[in-house]
Amino acid sequence: MSELSDLHQEVRACPLCILAKSRTHAVPGEGPSDARILFVGEGPGFHEDQQGRPFIGAAGQFLNELLGTIGVRREEVYITNVVKCRPPGNRDPLPDEIQACHPYLERQIALIKPQVIVTLGRFSMEQFIPGAKISRVHGQAFKQGNLVIFPCFHPAAALHQPKYRELIEQDFKQLAKILEQKAAPPAVEEQDDDEPPVQGHQLSLF
Ligand code: URA
Ligand code: SF4
Repeated sequence: MSELSDLHQEVRACPLCILAKSRTHAVPGEGPSDARILFVGEGPGFHEDQQGRPFIGAAGQFLNELLGTIGVRREEVYITNVVKCRPPGNRDPLPDEIQACHPYLERQIALIKPQVIVTLGRFSMEQFIPGAKISRVHGQAFKQGNLVIFPCFHPAAALHQPKYRELIEQDFKQLAKILEQKAAPPAVEEQDDDEPPVQGHQLSLF
């Protein structure tokens, strides 16, 4: 078994916060262990809890659609959440739940080593850009070492308020540009270096 599937198994049996008591299934995340892009949502909803898979309800349908608009297949990205178990009634995750679950997200990032992390919603953004306001930072890239953090509104927002649909679609267009830049071959090939040449100088710095 790979380290990532070991981690998934650990999450499925996790007792570390109160959400363990009410969940049907924990939702560790899914996607290739070498994905370039990691999406981080808020937490599982009803359908996700039922099936143990992330973003398979209405918000997930919209996410799939958004990926389609930028020519990215869902199967090539890794998708997870800030908390891996459903908060009852889809309430917001609480600080102690987020804290208890955070090491899993850290480990997923360390194993997958994505180039870009797309945060969906403010809880996810807060894990990477603490104190930021999503209405200000959405759709912009923030460089953190070799990683780019790209905050977006949560796709569920568009289901409740139509004005968000266009904003999110615009953000994804911007994301497509960032991905293109990151895909450009580096000026110097450095095979054995853990730190590839700095790219994306047009990105905003946080
Ligand atoms: N919303 C989320 O934040 N995550 C999911 O997995 C599904 C809906
Ligand atoms: Fe464990 Fe995270 Fe589920 Fe809490 S939400 S029980 S910390 S996996």
